[in-house]
Amino acid sequence: MESLTRSPERDVSTKEQSSSSALPRIVIYGASGHALGCALDLKHRLRSRPLCEIVAYIDDFRGGRGELLDGAPIISFEEWRSRFGNVSCFISVGDPSARRRLAEKMQACGGSFSCLFESEETALPHVKMGVGSAVAATSHIGPQTTLGDHVHIYPMSWVAHDVRIADYVTVAASCSVSGHVVIEEGVFVGAGAVIVHGRPDRPLVIGAGAKIAAGAVVTKSIPPGATVAGNPARPLRELARNRTASHDAE
Ligand SMILES: CC(C)(COP(=O)(O)OP(=O)(O)OC[C@H]1O[C@@H](n2cnc3c(N)ncnc32)[C@H](O)[C@@H]1OP(=O)(O)O)[C@@H](O)C(=O)NCCC(=O)NCCS
Repeated sequence: MESLTRSPERDVSTKEQSSSSALPRIVIYGASGHALGCALDLKHRLRSRPLCEIVAYIDDFRGGRGELLDGAPIISFEEWRSRFGNVSCFISVGDPSARRRLAEKMQACGGSFSCLFESEETALPHVKMGVGSAVAATSHIGPQTTLGDHVHIYPMSWVAHDVRIADYVTVAASCSVSGHVVIEEGVFVGAGAVIVHGRPDRPLVIGAGAKIAAGAVVTKSIPPGATVAGNPARPLRELARNRTASHDAE
C-alpha cells in the first residue's frame, strides 16, 4: 500500500487552511448527485466536526459555466490546475478503475491527495488509512484493519477486524465484511453484499479487480477479475448457464 510508506500531502492542510474553520480545504473531482452525497458525508452530522471544507467541484463536462453545487463552484479541470492545483483533491467516483484513471491524471498534473482521517478526532482506532480514502460516517471499521489509497466505504457498512483492503477498492452501502478478509486492488463490492468465513489461518481473498454483485453472499475466495453473484456467490456466467439449463429443462 503506497500510502503507508509515502507521506500524505499534509502541507496542504497548513498552507491552504481556511482561517475561519481551520479545516483542510479540498476540491472534489465529480459534481454529480453521488459526488454531493460524498461531500455531505464528509460534513455529516454524526461526525464530531466536518472533516474538510469543500472549495470547488471539478466536472469535465459542466465545469466553468458558473454553476454552483452546495455553494461551491463547479470548475473545469483546467480551472483546477490554474486556481486550485495546490489544494488537495478527493475523487468521488464509485467505479474503481475510473477512480484510478482520474487519480493518475491528477497526479500527472501535480495534484495531491490527503488523508482526511488522521486527526485524533477523526481517526478510526487501530485502523490505518491511505490518502484519498473515505469511510462514511455511518459505517464501522474494526481494529487491525488497513485501507489503502482511494478506498471508498459507503454508508451503513461494517468491516469487522483484521481486514486488508488494497488501493482503489469500493465497498458500496450496507455491506458486511467479517474478520480475516483480504480485498485486493480495484475490487467493487456491490450494495448489501456479505463476505464471511475468513479465518486467521486462512484469510478469505477477493482477487484484484473482482466484482461482487449487489446482495451476494461470498463464502469462499474469489479469483482476480471474476464477477460473482447470489447466495452462495457463484460466477455470474455459471449462474446464467444454470438458469438457461433449468429453463431448457422445463
Ligand atoms: C453484478 C453486476 C456488476 C453485473 O452487472 P453486468 O455485468 O452489467 O450484468 P447484467 O446486469 O447484464 O446481468 C447479467 C446477469 O446476471 C444477473 N444478475 C445481475 N446482478 C445480479 C445480482 N446482484 N444477483 C443475482 N443475479 C444478478 C442478471 O439478472 C443477468 O441474468 P440474465 O443473463 O439471466 O438476464 C451488477 O448487476 C451489480 O450487482 N452491480 C452492483 C451495483 C451496486 O451495488 N451499486 C452500488 C451503488 S452504491
